[in-house]
Amino acid sequence: MAIAPNLQHRQIAVALEQDPYEVIIGDGSLETLGDALLRIGIQSGRKILLVSNPDVAGPYGEACLNALQKAGFDVELLLIEAGEDQKTLATVAQIHDAAFAQKLERSSLMLALGGGVVGDMTGFAAATWLRGIGVIQVPTTLLAMVDASIGGKTGVNHPGGKNLIGAFHQPRLVLIDPATLATLPIREFRAGLAEVVKYGVLGDPELFELLEQCPHPDHPEGLGRDRLETILERSAAAKAAVVAADEKEGGLRAILNYGHTFGHVVETLCGYGTWLHGEAVAIGMVAVGELAVQRGSWSRAEAERQQQLIKRMQLPTRWPSLEPDAVLQCLQGDKKVRDGRLRFVMPKTIGAVEIRDDITLEEISRTLEALKV
Ligand code: NAD
Ligand code: GLY
Repeated sequence: MAIAPNLQHRQIAVALEQDPYEVIIGDGSLETLGDALLRIGIQSGRKILLVSNPDVAGPYGEACLNALQKAGFDVELLLIEAGEDQKTLATVAQIHDAAFAQKLERSSLMLALGGGVVGDMTGFAAATWLRGIGVIQVPTTLLAMVDASIGGKTGVNHPGGKNLIGAFHQPRLVLIDPATLATLPIREFRAGLAEVVKYGVLGDPELFELLEQCPHPDHPEGLGRDRLETILERSAAAKAAVVAADEKEGGLRAILNYGHTFGHVVETLCGYGTWLHGEAVAIGMVAVGELAVQRGSWSRAEAERQQQLIKRMQLPTRWPSLEPDAVLQCLQGDKKVRDGRLRFVMPKTIGAVEIRDDITLEEISRTLEALKV
């Protein structure tokens, strides 16, 4: 039986040569999850290990289970603990144990219902179970909707650093139900907005303007249902386009790290847990904007537009008080250093960035001085 597409929902193609997939976005789409799986050719009766955490399974677990069971899938729910500190191989081992208990086969699937932590770990567990089974991503934070769920980066943290253990493992489907954002703490929502601003600056000036024109861009009700869906759609499309062009981060995909190099410094030196990832990225975008202004490759006016928008989202913009030497040392230890040269994604205009590896330590020191005022 052919299953018709749900025309009420927006769909974005992640046009990979091998195993392309769709991102579906729609209010209430969680209820159609089972049908969406049938539509992409996953047969009814397949086993699915649904992985979530209590904050998310509380409000959405039952709807998710019902949608899958209604379509004839054989589903078990596994709850794992929330939090970045749980993003470890030990938690992945719990997922593997549940996969063993449920007797998951090659044709079975794992499904992540939650934020980026659940998504990254479930993706990694799926990538490694029986040398790789399918995974479905159902993100429930704004950050996971616009970033983590799309693109196939999966993994866990190592005591030596974040996301050091991982694999590329693309999902079979990403289904985004914006209604799930209703229960997301507002601070987490705003942290996700930083990644949306990132897409605007790196390639979508209309998305940036859409955010600028919104009188209250800092909360879901302020954005309104239609505008929120458009923001999700444009962000997902931006990520999908970059991933399709450079799946394994040979070059272009690095532009998705806009704001992340300085952001990583803020996360590391202020201590993980002080700032959420998106908040650190917000500070990082302002800092790299200043670096670009200092070297004359970006206009002060556009840097101020970026800063204003970030401020209106109630996100932090001020560079914290950090020892300049510690900052330089941290930058040199960053994953994004290549052949000993610092690499920065630099804004050129709102809607275009470039990757530069000719930034000197003196320029960084000057920028840090300028950020103090
Ligand atoms: P998160 O997964 O830790 O979720 C944040 C908090 O929100 C958690 O306490 C969670 O339980 C709660 N939550 C989630 N959805 C909720 C909802 N709808 N209602 C109520 N509470 C809800 O944080 P995150 O920001 O989604 O993800 C961060 C992780 O994503 C990091 O580990 C980061 O490394 C990873 N990440 C991965 C990629 C990638 O490409 N794979 C990209 C960016 C970030
Ligand atoms: N979040 C960066 C990437 O997916 O490449």
